[in-house]
Amino acid sequence: MAGNRFGSLFSIMTFGESHGPYIGVVIDGIKPGLPIDLQEIQREMNRRRPGQSRVTTARQEADRVEIISGVFEGKTTGAPICILIKNEDPRSKDYTALKEVFRPGHAAYTYLKKYAIFDYRGGGRASGRETAARVAAGAIAKQALKPYGIEFRAFTRKIGPWEAQTVDYDFIEQNPVRCCDPQIAPRMEEYIRQIAGEGDSVGGIVELHLSGLPAGLGDPVFEKLDAELAHGLMSIGAVKGIEFGEGFRAAGLKGSEMNDLFGAAEAGGIAPLSNRAGGILGGISTGQTVVLRLAVKPPSSIKKAQKTVDRQGKEVSLSIEGRHDPCICPRVVPVAEAMAALVILDLLLVQQAISESKGEMDNLENEIGLADAQLLLLLQKRLALSDRSGKFRSAGRSQAKKEREAE
Ligand SMILES: Cc1cc2nc3c(=O)[nH]c(=O)nc-3n(C[C@H](O)[C@H](O)[C@H](O)COP(=O)(O)O)c2cc1C
Repeated sequence: MAGNRFGSLFSIMTFGESHGPYIGVVIDGIKPGLPIDLQEIQREMNRRRPGQSRVTTARQEADRVEIISGVFEGKTTGAPICILIKNEDPRSKDYTALKEVFRPGHAAYTYLKKYAIFDYRGGGRASGRETAARVAAGAIAKQALKPYGIEFRAFTRKIGPWEAQTVDYDFIEQNPVRCCDPQIAPRMEEYIRQIAGEGDSVGGIVELHLSGLPAGLGDPVFEKLDAELAHGLMSIGAVKGIEFGEGFRAAGLKGSEMNDLFGAAEAGGIAPLSNRAGGILGGISTGQTVVLRLAVKPPSSIKKAQKTVDRQGKEVSLSIEGRHDPCICPRVVPVAEAMAALVILDLLLVQQAISESKGEMDNLENEIGLADAQLLLLLQKRLALSDRSGKFRSAGRSQAKKEREAE
């Protein structure tokens, strides 16, 4: 199975299935000497872990990370970092009923079409559980990015009919839905519990703010910053759409309404004066906050009876038991931050490589200039010497070798 690796200079490869003994990640491209704060990694894991509140799945996983390579005496060695996370509470028997039946909206159908084999226990590799490994890697990327002052803040913007009207970053981790609006958060929670009580599930919108990015990150054509972020974020299960800045609303605006005008920036220099573009122009960061939103679908595993078919094509009625998230948004929040951190660290390393090679080019150009100047001086000296020897020649006492002079 291909496509388990993500990133170029800084890359990760995740492994493991929902009900296997472990899931984990191998991280490559981390510089040596970076202090690793294990508690900070664990804090990120706890934000994603199942069983954390009344609006997430009841599966109980401590999601304790075990670093088995690449870190020595609390610092990275530069070698690949391998992280293991034990699956402690799988309950595979809950999935026996799903072995022969296609769960509407889930990945078993396409996996079977592609591979003719599917680890149905907990959704195998298609499970949201795989994202625990991404969060562990993202926590390390965040630590590597700390000296640059880059911050990642995701939150739940909308669930069902309830949309946050204010953004209070400090409130996000203080409520189980990770909403940014203290007035709306209880309404969202109530709504999720009501829908779950009906045996159904609900989708929503997760918003991500990326601040402190330097201007100039990303590339103009295939590796645009928005394209790279979209790749990382759309690879999260259940994420069905992404928009930057005004996003889909931009399609209904006039140019004069959409354009961010340039002017004198508060911090000095020139900058866009508004941010409808969402911090990215031509695929390259403007230095403003990158603002993006993710459409998250309702989880497909619901108790409500649905008509489906078994592998033989026989119609059956399916009511999914087991433990499932009634809404994925609160758990997508830390996963989205992690994926964005992986993308940004990779692009930053690419940018540094470009700057380093530019520095090297500048040095070479300087040395060539110096060599040219020395050559000119030597040539001048040579001409003066042959001039003096020419005077001897005209007095009939020349020792000059004719061939050498011609050369
Ligand atoms: C953190 C997280 C938790 C998830 N929990 C569930 C769940 O409990 N039940 C479910 O049916 N799908 C859940 N999903 C979604 C499935 O993984 C996803 O729908 C499935 O892989 C199919 O992919 P697609 O929806 O992108 O087509 C979760 C996804 C994430 C990221």
